[in-house]
Amino acid sequence: MQMENHLTTAIEIAREAGALLVQLFKSPMEITYKRRSDLVTEADRRSEALIVERLRRHFPQHAIVGEEGGGQQTDSDYCWYVDPLDGTTNFAHGFPVFCVTLGLAYCGEVVAGVVYDPTREELFTAEKGAGAYLNNERLHVSETADLARCLLATGFPPFATNHDLNIKFYFRFTELSHGIRRAGSAALDLCSVAAGRFDGFWELKLNPWDKAAGSLLVTEAGGLVTNLAGKPFNLLGDDIFASNGLVHEEMVQVFSEVLARWTR
Ligand code: 2AM
Ligand code: CA
Repeated sequence: MQMENHLTTAIEIAREAGALLVQLFKSPMEITYKRRSDLVTEADRRSEALIVERLRRHFPQHAIVGEEGGGQQTDSDYCWYVDPLDGTTNFAHGFPVFCVTLGLAYCGEVVAGVVYDPTREELFTAEKGAGAYLNNERLHVSETADLARCLLATGFPPFATNHDLNIKFYFRFTELSHGIRRAGSAALDLCSVAAGRFDGFWELKLNPWDKAAGSLLVTEAGGLVTNLAGKPFNLLGDDIFASNGLVHEEMVQVFSEVLARWTR
């Protein structure tokens, strides 16, 4: 009962923040830089301020971690991971692929998640043990067991470190699969795995707010989420590998071969 309340509230907040993003997307925006090429817009800040204010009002005891530094530390076992705008670079360039994402962890385990894509009006939701949904339709991962028939996805952080190795993975999987998409929003990529649009997604350096909701969507849609070595997924770790489960082992083997070749 309590959990339903969490999810219902998170959905309301994500829809409200999504509407704000769409409104700001249509108007001229100012871009500032956190680092050399790590940009942030007024939309990131305003969306986070809105989300944090609403979460605080509904769940004053809960901890909140937001990408833009908002939030609050408490001694609660509940912690919200908030990305008020996942896909900021797309947003700033006028490429309409971005979302709002909220994941709720209980004692470190994600128990509820929402990802809202306001340009397509797609609302992805999941609760631990209760399935994953897109606009109230149950989601299932794909049934593709043949890597050669897979459509995959990955992403790169917007600065130079750590690019090299993922370029090697990118190159190898381009040879082995139908292709790789690099759409710029990790949360939406994970939702596409949950929805069976992508058969697999990996990324090397992500923060917990990018992964929290999306990782639960994948597992609740019947998929598998680990790190690149195939070991248990760690929300606070760097890398993530999500798939339909059927091509997981084969892909872990490829990661390991590429790693062995380039890190000797
Ligand atoms: P963002 O749009 O919220 O910044 C792109 O491959 C993914 O990486 C996006 O989900 C993007 O989230 C995230 N990302 C952007 N900058 C990052 C950084 N400096 N470190 C790690 N992930 C980042
Ligand atoms: Ca963000």
